[in-house]
Amino acid sequence: MKGLILSGGKGTRLRPITYTGAKQLVPVANKPVLFYAIEDLVEAGVTDLAIVVGDTRDQIVAAVGDGTRFGARVTYVDQDAPLGLAHAVKVAEPYLGDEPFVMFLGDNFLRDGIVDYVRQFASLRQQGEANCQILLHHVPNPQDFGVAELEDGRVVRLTEKPRQPKSDLIVIGIYMFDHHVFEAVRAIKPSARGELEITDTIQWLIDNRYEVRAEVIAGWWIDTGKMADILEANRLILERLEPANWGTVDGNSQLAGRVVVERGARIRNSVIRGPAIIGEETEVLDSYIGPFTSVYHHCRIERSEIEHSIVLEQSRIVDLPYRIEESLIGRNVEIGRSPTKPRAYRFMLGDYSRVGVVAGHE
Ligand code: G1P
Repeated sequence: MKGLILSGGKGTRLRPITYTGAKQLVPVANKPVLFYAIEDLVEAGVTDLAIVVGDTRDQIVAAVGDGTRFGARVTYVDQDAPLGLAHAVKVAEPYLGDEPFVMFLGDNFLRDGIVDYVRQFASLRQQGEANCQILLHHVPNPQDFGVAELEDGRVVRLTEKPRQPKSDLIVIGIYMFDHHVFEAVRAIKPSARGELEITDTIQWLIDNRYEVRAEVIAGWWIDTGKMADILEANRLILERLEPANWGTVDGNSQLAGRVVVERGARIRNSVIRGPAIIGEETEVLDSYIGPFTSVYHHCRIERSEIEHSIVLEQSRIVDLPYRIEESLIGRNVEIGRSPTKPRAYRFMLGDYSRVGVVAGHE
């Protein structure tokens, strides 16, 4: 089987981070979300991979390369415009050919990987009992996803982001297809939002009597398209962290619980309470880093406190009077005290930035 990872899209729900970076490269526990997808595929024996890329092509190529370090062979397929998930399947047809494939949305995140599902699909397919397999999950907000309706355990209807969902079972962004999917993507028409929808594609397969299997997954699944979901994925991954220290931690500092200090990181006179990860060459001085925090490479945290947050590379957080919580801080960001009077906030914020301030002392 081949693998098709979708890594285009504008990532509008993650602005301003996505103005300059691909959403699939936002690090979760200091590793880009996209890498988890590649690793899940490789673990399932799917090593011939195509990544569908758009505007952020160069960044994705720079991060993933030819796939050797993942034990995979990666090629890139250009999608000129974000015309839908089914459109991405269409543009990848020359690469996929007749082989069955797993399609994996590059911002989806699964606790238990896909090994069992890939194996199951392969054997059902050989017996002629599956042309497509989708994975379902119960969620509290089905209206935000493709929703599945089942009858006697079989999927009968899929609806993309319905106002009034008929069930709480949604289709997660990992799909298995054989070559009949190309018939479907050629047959369907763009939806009201102007996209070729993968839900319509699968509905076409159902309506045309192809075998569409559905499995409800155990374990958690997260679509990391929004900040709260990225923080949640970060929390869940950090919970499984194996403590390690490749940096330097001075005698006045304390590492408590699951803490990883990456190569070249320096911790001085600080408390790091895990689960937390401190990136390469990052400096933490006179500070407190609390649980569920990932600080990426080449950052500086000085006389400040932060927890349940993600900080991207090269950012500096210095001299903050209050603790930072539940924050996603981009690259090269500086947060510090205003040096002079009058006592005031001084911001330089990108479009769609969000700032929460606490009421200060009078
Ligand atoms: C896409 C699909 C949707 C699916 C979701 C899973 O939505 O259209 O059916 O449930 O991925 O992550 P999007 O995240 O592109 O809005």
